Amino acid sequence: EKQMTLDIDELGKFAADIVKEAGALLKELRTEPIKLEEKGDHANLVTFVDQEVEKFLVDNILEKYPDHGVVGEEGVFENVLTNFETEWVIDPIDGTTNFIHNFPFYGISVGIVHKGEGLIGVVYNPVTDELFYGQKGNGAYVNGDRLTISPEIQLSEALVATSMFWENIWTKDALHHSIIQLYKETRGVRMVGGAAITLCEIAKGTLNAYIVPMLSTWDYAGGVIILKEAGGSISQLSGSPVSFELGGSILAAHPSIHQELLNMYVDWID
Ligand code: IPD
Ligand code: CA
Ligand code: CA
Ligand code: CA
Repeated sequence: EKQMTLDIDELGKFAADIVKEAGALLKELRTEPIKLEEKGDHANLVTFVDQEVEKFLVDNILEKYPDHGVVGEEGVFENVLTNFETEWVIDPIDGTTNFIHNFPFYGISVGIVHKGEGLIGVVYNPVTDELFYGQKGNGAYVNGDRLTISPEIQLSEALVATSMFWENIWTKDALHHSIIQLYKETRGVRMVGGAAITLCEIAKGTLNAYIVPMLSTWDYAGGVIILKEAGGSISQLSGSPVSFELGGSILAAHPSIHQELLNMYVDWID
């Protein structure tokens, strides 16, 4: 293959710049009330802002890096991931429902996967103006400040985020058991939507874990790379490594409680 060696710092700077610009575009395009469309059911929504932000990112990426692969949730441009050495995995708005409701927990997420490994993650929260950045071997940052996960914590001190779709995967009993146990053993449970921002908040230490039975790669690619670099522990609920090619479950946590949470859930997943 004749792909030139990749200048990773340049790539990272470019990614951070276009995500920040995409954030400005998102704010500019926001209308009140925001027009929305349903994608199959009443709770699966998309707006023209999702589509325009994705298009902006894809156009900019392919102009600068025509030999890179891009996959985005809204399918503005799609190619088969494995044909490319370097692949961008994009969620133009992660947390569309929050965006529509003005619930301040949504963001733009980009993960860059190189030879199958997470290389760069960029997540932007347009409400707080926080730009999260992670680069393999180079740490995680929020607006340029280094993010390092807090000292050891106990499960009883942890604030844990989760998400819906439990019911699609588990029986009623298993669902009941797992949610109740989580409430009993932790300090609290939150369902706030927005996988990408959730992962970044764990990197900051405001949340301590995230348990979700099913996500798509674009929901977590950027956030996983950032959280790993901040010192977080991330796997699927089975304990297997997270995949950047296929979606799946996520158990992301402060390293001192990851195994304990894994032990709670591993039995419920086949
Ligand atoms: C959704 C959010 C949500 C998660 C859903 C995702 P979207 O992404 O990340 O927190 O529970 O599974 O689909 O559709 O708002 O980009
Ligand atoms: Ca969506
Ligand atoms: Ca998403
Ligand atoms: Ca989305």
